[in-house]
Amino acid sequence: MIVRCFTDGGAVARAAVETVVEGARLAVDARGIFRIALAGGATPRMAYERLSEARGIDWSRTEVFFSDDRAVGPDADGSNFRMAREALLARVPVPDARVHRIQGELGAEEAARRYEAELGDAPLDLVLLGMGADGHTASLFPGGVRDDDARRVVPARGPPPHVERVTLTLRALAEARRKVFLVTGASKAARLAEVLLDARSGSPALPAAQACTGGDVEWLVDRAAATELAMIGDELTLEQQQE
Ligand code: 6PG
Repeated sequence: MIVRCFTDGGAVARAAVETVVEGARLAVDARGIFRIALAGGATPRMAYERLSEARGIDWSRTEVFFSDDRAVGPDADGSNFRMAREALLARVPVPDARVHRIQGELGAEEAARRYEAELGDAPLDLVLLGMGADGHTASLFPGGVRDDDARRVVPARGPPPHVERVTLTLRALAEARRKVFLVTGASKAARLAEVLLDARSGSPALPAAQACTGGDVEWLVDRAAATELAMIGDELTLEQQQE
């Protein structure tokens, strides 16, 4: 597990773009296709806007999935698909058939069933994830995660106003080749330290820590979110990002 610290959210977003571009190249070289899952959230949105201008991604060979979504239609407020479409997918030449959205308007159960079938059993090459101040990731909330789940996608429940959700499971995340968490802001600082300790404990309890099992795991964090990390012994060097 690697933790990288940057000056601010913009620098985290730029580093995320570099990671996606590199991930796409490696996957296409190795397997001819790049399977990425996009996260919801404010920091990912900034990364998607920058990614829409990045060179070096063969969008015709990119399969786009989502880490989770609310059980809403594609144009609703709160739809992760809508956010990704506006920030990225409508701006790049990705074929429609390669974009696999969660059909939340069908209800969480049916949407999860269909989405799981579309996801199939090939591992995701790269999963982008956020972390909530409560330690959730994707729509895996504290107290609501089954860690023995045989499924790769399940219906889930989150806080109002969008209680019904669909999420990748810990199994699907464990099978992914690489996971990259994007975490910014002082409101996440205490929980980030707790999650990183938890992830190294051998029996993690918080969902974001449980999601660190399997594959390569990288945390891209800003200085505000990293303020408590020295307390748990993580010596972090600030990485400077050039425009
Ligand atoms: C969503 C995701 C959620 C998100 C975190 C972090 O909101 O769609 O389910 O896991 O990634 O809550 O969000 P922020 O980056 O906006 O804090």
